[in-house]
Amino acid sequence: MIGLFERLARPFLHALDPEDAHSLTIKMLACAPLPRAAGDDKRLAVRAFGLNFPNPIGMAAGFDKNGEVPDALLRLGFGFVETGTVTPLPQRGNPRPRVFRLNADRGVINRLGFNSQGAEAVLRRLAARANAGGIVGINIGANKDAADRVADYVRLIERFAPIASYVTINISSPNTPGLRNLQQAEALDDLLARVIDARERVTRRAGPTPVLLKIAPDLSLAELDDAVGVARARRVDGMIVGNTTLTRPASLREMKIAKEAGGLSGRPLLPLATRMLAETYVRVESAFPLIGVGGIDSGAAALAKIRAGASLIQLYSALVFRGLGLVAEIKSALLSALERDSLDSLSELVGADAAAVTAEAWPG
Ligand SMILES: Cc1cc2nc3c(=O)[nH]c(=O)nc-3n(C[C@H](O)[C@H](O)[C@H](O)COP(=O)(O)O)c2cc1C
Repeated sequence: MIGLFERLARPFLHALDPEDAHSLTIKMLACAPLPRAAGDDKRLAVRAFGLNFPNPIGMAAGFDKNGEVPDALLRLGFGFVETGTVTPLPQRGNPRPRVFRLNADRGVINRLGFNSQGAEAVLRRLAARANAGGIVGINIGANKDAADRVADYVRLIERFAPIASYVTINISSPNTPGLRNLQQAEALDDLLARVIDARERVTRRAGPTPVLLKIAPDLSLAELDDAVGVARARRVDGMIVGNTTLTRPASLREMKIAKEAGGLSGRPLLPLATRMLAETYVRVESAFPLIGVGGIDSGAAALAKIRAGASLIQLYSALVFRGLGLVAEIKSALLSALERDSLDSLSELVGADAAAVTAEAWPG
């Protein structure tokens, strides 16, 4: 049903400015009577960060920035939803246009710059659905004009940890000037020390909430060494690899749009993001699980992420080109992979190819 509706709607949505198409999609998800996806096969279940995921496929941050449709997305078959990025105070982000489709490449460039309705509005929505079940994480970021960015993260942890399934520290958006500097060893250590401390304070009254760190795929391997070292020392619960890239692969066909400033996502990001995932996996040495994100647009790509080291995966851009039917397609591809190797659980595939991936030529 949803597949047919989408096939009819997609040409119309693609005729719109990408941001208008997105707003309309959110409105449709918020009010359309949605069919509930079939229950998940038990072999797709994943336990990670102390949470039980019915399947490993998550909606990546940025789709539901303001927590308007997490339950619609869960209903349509996602195993979890990451809302946000939310900032403490409302902010508009960069001037439009700021989202661009690279149709021939199946990619997207965005420079939204943390447009957010702010913490209060998102908290209200998440509180209203708090007893609805399902895994709904929150991705947090700093306001552009914040005098003390670390204080913004601490404030948001205090507000959201009691209500979210997990909290993601997003220091990898390329669209807030200077934000990615928080990934450098000394700054990251200070940030994580204060964030984990805030989480511990909340835990005493509201129970534990996993804290994840989302990094950029553009770190050098030396910077990745540092980031993983700090994340392990500060005992984060997991990492997400990764955000959009500022690089522009030589293979891009939409040369003119590729010159737009912003982060590139979708199919052209897959090789770099998967390589960085594998590089992270070999450094983490199973200290915590990883979420693999970037360029997943098929069952094969999802399986490659898991084999490169992802316990869970997320996607966003492929939905623009493939629609929500992709979620069911990935599930059936993962089940076929399990059947092929007579396995009972995806955990047996996690990281199977990580070492081999790190030995390949660097993706160009
Ligand atoms: C339009 C758009 C907005 C995004 N906004 C956010 C965001 O607010 N916070 C964040 O952590 N990532 C954001 N992302 C990045 C995605 O969560 C994801 O890491 C990235 O797009 C790679 O996955 P994909 O290739 O499946 O899209 C955004 C991506 C897109 C395309």
